[in-house]
Amino acid sequence: MASAFTAAAFLLHFQLLLILVLLPPSAAQPGFISLDCGGARDHTDAIGIQWTSDATFVSGGQTAQLLVQNGLQSQQFATVRYFPADNRKYCYTMNVRNRTRYLVRATFLYGNFDNSNVYPKFDISLGASPWSTIVVDDATTPVVEEAIILAAAPTLSVCLSNASTGQPFISTLELRQFNGSLYYTTDETRFFLALSARINFGAESNDSIRYPDDPFDRIWESDSVRRANYLVDVAPGTARISTTKPIFVSINEEPPEKVMQTAVVGQDGYLNYRLDLEGFPANAWGVSYFAEIEDLAPNETRKFKLEVPGMPALSKPTVDVEENAQGKYRLYEPGYTNLSLPFVFSFGFRKTNDSSEGPILNALEIYKYVQITMGSQDASIMASMVSRYSQAGWAQEGGDPCLPASWSWVQCSSEDAPRVFSITLSGKNITGSIPVELTKLSALVELRLDGNSFSGQIPDFSACHNLQYIHLENNQLTGELPPSLGDLPNLKELYVQNNKLSGQVPKSLFKRSIILNFSGNSDLHIVNKGISHTILIICVVIGAIVLLGAAFGCYFFTCRRKKKSHEDTVVIAAPAKKLGSYFSEVATESAHRFSLSEIEDATAKFERRIGSGGFGIVYYGKLADGREIAVKLLTNDSYQGIREFLNEVTLLSRIHHRHLVTFLGYSQQDGKNILVYEFMHNGTLKEHLRGASEEKITSWLKRLEIAEDAAKGIEYLHTGCSPTIIHRDLKSSNILLDKNMRAKVADFGLSKPAVDGSHVSSIVRGTVGYLDPEYYISQQLTEKSDIYSFGVILLELISGHEPISNDNFGLNCRNIVAWARSHIEGGNIHAIIDQSLDRGLLSQRCSRRSRTPSPLSGDPRRCSAPPQSNSSCSCPAATGPWAIPRR
Ligand SMILES: *[C@@H]1O[C@H](CO)[C@@H](O)[C@H](O)[C@H]1NC(C)=O
Ligand SMILES: *[C@@H]1O[C@H](CO)[C@@H](O)[C@H](O)[C@H]1NC(C)=O
Ligand SMILES: *[C@@H]1O[C@H](CO)[C@@H](O)[C@H](O)[C@H]1NC(C)=O
Ligand SMILES: *[C@@H]1O[C@H](CO)[C@@H](O)[C@H](O)[C@H]1NC(C)=O
Ligand SMILES: *[C@@H]1O[C@H](CO)[C@@H](O)[C@H](O)[C@H]1NC(C)=O
Ligand SMILES: *[C@@H]1O[C@H](CO)[C@@H](O)[C@H](O)[C@H]1NC(C)=O
Ligand SMILES: *[C@@H]1O[C@H](CO)[C@@H](O)[C@H](O)[C@H]1NC(C)=O
Ligand SMILES: *[C@@H]1O[C@H](CO)[C@@H](O)[C@H](O)[C@H]1NC(C)=O
Ligand SMILES: *[C@@H]1O[C@H](CO)[C@@H](O)[C@H](O)[C@H]1NC(C)=O
Repeated sequence: MASAFTAAAFLLHFQLLLILVLLPPSAAQPGFISLDCGGARDHTDAIGIQWTSDATFVSGGQTAQLLVQNGLQSQQFATVRYFPADNRKYCYTMNVRNRTRYLVRATFLYGNFDNSNVYPKFDISLGASPWSTIVVDDATTPVVEEAIILAAAPTLSVCLSNASTGQPFISTLELRQFNGSLYYTTDETRFFLALSARINFGAESNDSIRYPDDPFDRIWESDSVRRANYLVDVAPGTARISTTKPIFVSINEEPPEKVMQTAVVGQDGYLNYRLDLEGFPANAWGVSYFAEIEDLAPNETRKFKLEVPGMPALSKPTVDVEENAQGKYRLYEPGYTNLSLPFVFSFGFRKTNDSSEGPILNALEIYKYVQITMGSQDASIMASMVSRYSQAGWAQEGGDPCLPASWSWVQCSSEDAPRVFSITLSGKNITGSIPVELTKLSALVELRLDGNSFSGQIPDFSACHNLQYIHLENNQLTGELPPSLGDLPNLKELYVQNNKLSGQVPKSLFKRSIILNFSGNSDLHIVNKGISHTILIICVVIGAIVLLGAAFGCYFFTCRRKKKSHEDTVVIAAPAKKLGSYFSEVATESAHRFSLSEIEDATAKFERRIGSGGFGIVYYGKLADGREIAVKLLTNDSYQGIREFLNEVTLLSRIHHRHLVTFLGYSQQDGKNILVYEFMHNGTLKEHLRGASEEKITSWLKRLEIAEDAAKGIEYLHTGCSPTIIHRDLKSSNILLDKNMRAKVADFGLSKPAVDGSHVSSIVRGTVGYLDPEYYISQQLTEKSDIYSFGVILLELISGHEPISNDNFGLNCRNIVAWARSHIEGGNIHAIIDQSLDRGLLSQRCSRRSRTPSPLSGDPRRCSAPPQSNSSCSCPAATGPWAIPRR
């Protein structure tokens, strides 16, 4: 929820200038942190708050001056700190007392600081918990966010991330420590409170009340300030009253006296208001503050009830302020600690029949409960590790290592409580021993510490069962290679070259398929002294059963042959090992590995070719168990290395959907990269739209069903996978049909996952006619590019034409999109409908559903009209809504 000050609220600062003169100069504010983001100098503002520069609380970002000012703001609003709009998060970290409640306030005054007049939109989070989305829609009005949270650690961080427009920025960040329990809630470890409304009723001016009137510097907004859809629908007869007499507020967290000294009363017997609560419906914490500030006669009474439409239960208790507060000029604060409120919250107070006076209302606070996100399971280990490197930039990124975005050198799994699975600290000039915390990251798969100055021994990583890649090369490590490394069940690569290691390479490292490089360690020797330690062994063992015997046979065989090679590299490839541990937290199954001979048997040595694509040729095969398969033999240049191929295979193996062609396994042997899929009996959609006439699908319903099937498959790639998978090459020849003519999407296999669901720049891939023109121009790949291609497939289904044709679309028109658009814009949608479509069914379907207009015709009555062929297509330039998807 984003509440905004009006400019007028800042008048306060100037009016208080006079008062300031009387204040002791720079009275310290215990429990306050007031950061002037982007500000260079410390200063004290008009109300006495001491602002300090934010430079030591945040790592990164740049500072800027506002270019547009509203003439009212104080110095702390004249600058901002802003951050790149990337996938990272940028965090402020403040020291707090554990188990203490804090008010956190962040303000954002855009002021066109970047001279681009693009109003930024980005997210903020409190630690790992999403807090709010900051949407700037006015350059001169600050957006203000406030939350009350119980600190659960010695630091509290506020992070900016996920910019969807502009660059994330911040103007001020304030922390106010509470020392009472007014804001205690029963579930403080699971929820924090985000401010929705804090209103001072009957206020004497438009100025809000805050420090020093409020020792905790809450901002009590004046009820006379009118904002669109905020505090409206004020009932007739609402009068403002005030007093100068002192008000007794029992604890100092209650509203300041100045707030309680004004109120509204309903002279006609009732008060009514409407509040639009942004971000609602939600569960809310709401408290009303009452104090009798009129001197009522003994025969006068003030009793009233809360009235909320649709919530009669709230009207049960009767408020009798004087009696409840045990006297006049004393505070009474009834409220509801967990109330489900709608977006438009109408509420009122109505006097009871036996009350002589109408209701009174002095102040009100409403907060939304926001769920506290469980952070990474490895958060405390990581915090302890980075605390060793207080001088290094990479260690100051702050916040949770994984959420809402991971640190730049960390990769996390996508569970609710993510685990760190990859750490890359290559070439960071790190000295000292390898931090022992790393050995406690039990989900770690990849560890890259190469190119630093790490010294001392390699610690014991035996608790990291998932470790696959360990890169410690080019450091100053000493001691022996721990034998426990060989016991890591998933280890694939161990690089320790160019260190000062000594002793013998443990035997256990030779047992399995581990790529080991230990050259450049002059005192490190291979166990078997009989064999030179300068060896290169590359052997590929086929089949799972022959593994040990064959491995050793091969080992000795090649050892001798390659004896002269001058590299300390031992590469022993062994049998099919379970993959998938890279995503082990996500994937339950892992890819099956076929042996090359199995594939060769199944395909009769790649006899029957059934298709080809950008990545290779597809062959028909039949496994020994009778299953029919499609075998894709990838062209050799598809992959740069073993790693990439295996990563993609792992990715493929976790994608399962009824409308995606099932991936059965892979084979990687003799330099051949092979993917194995289920066989789709009825070939491609393309063949069934434009192939031989007996194959052609003429049923409109069937085509609709195919469209729906494909859409479901694509939707799953976009929304069901994490990270999102963008297909990049959707076309009718990639929509396959099974025995029952149900459609499945194929070839998604080699789509690279999108980073964070957003933009990934890569070489434009795709097929002419299906390419999203925007993607082509910008090379910014998003799901929208797939949607564009899918739209082209829909046009193919409707028209039966291919996307690019020299003959079908009339003069000067080669493109189905332009052709369809010209007809649709000309009001003749029928002209694009395939003439061979079964029109009986089409009209039947239309008349059956005559109440809902057919998506094709718009008008059910015209639905059965015979499609007209119109070959005069003007083919407008490739712009407009059809060519460029609107954002
Ligand atoms: C903070 O307090 C909570 C609850 O008492 C405790 O579980 C947690 O360990 C503390 N954290 C630190 C870092 O002291
Ligand atoms: C990032 O912002 C977009 C648009 O505001 C939103 O749809 C998406 O859920 C956000 N992503 C995360 C991880 O919060
Ligand atoms: C915190 O509470 C103490 C009394 O327990 C009070 O004297 C002090 O002023 C309070 N702090 C603030 C900032 O109000
Ligand atoms: C208070 O603000 C309202 C608009 O929100 C404005 O119409 C009114 O003139 C202001 N009053 C004063 C005294 O500034
Ligand atoms: C209270 O008493 C005064 C006279 O003492 C009278 O004028 C007034 O109307 C009474 N008010 C009510 C509500 O009875
Ligand atoms: C509020 O009530 C709802 C439903 O009764 C419950 O699910 C939620 O956890 C409660 N929230 C808090 C903070 O107690
Ligand atoms: C108050 O008076 C109104 C009409 O005079 C009546 O409808 C209502 O029931 C009364 N309420 C109570 C609680 O007596
Ligand atoms: C590496 O760290 C040392 C101090 O530990 C420092 O003197 C040196 O400048 C650093 N080098 C780089 C490239 O950061
Ligand atoms: C092993 O390390 C050495 C030294 O860095 C390097 O020259 C060699 O290419 C490496 N071998 C492999 C297979 O990576």
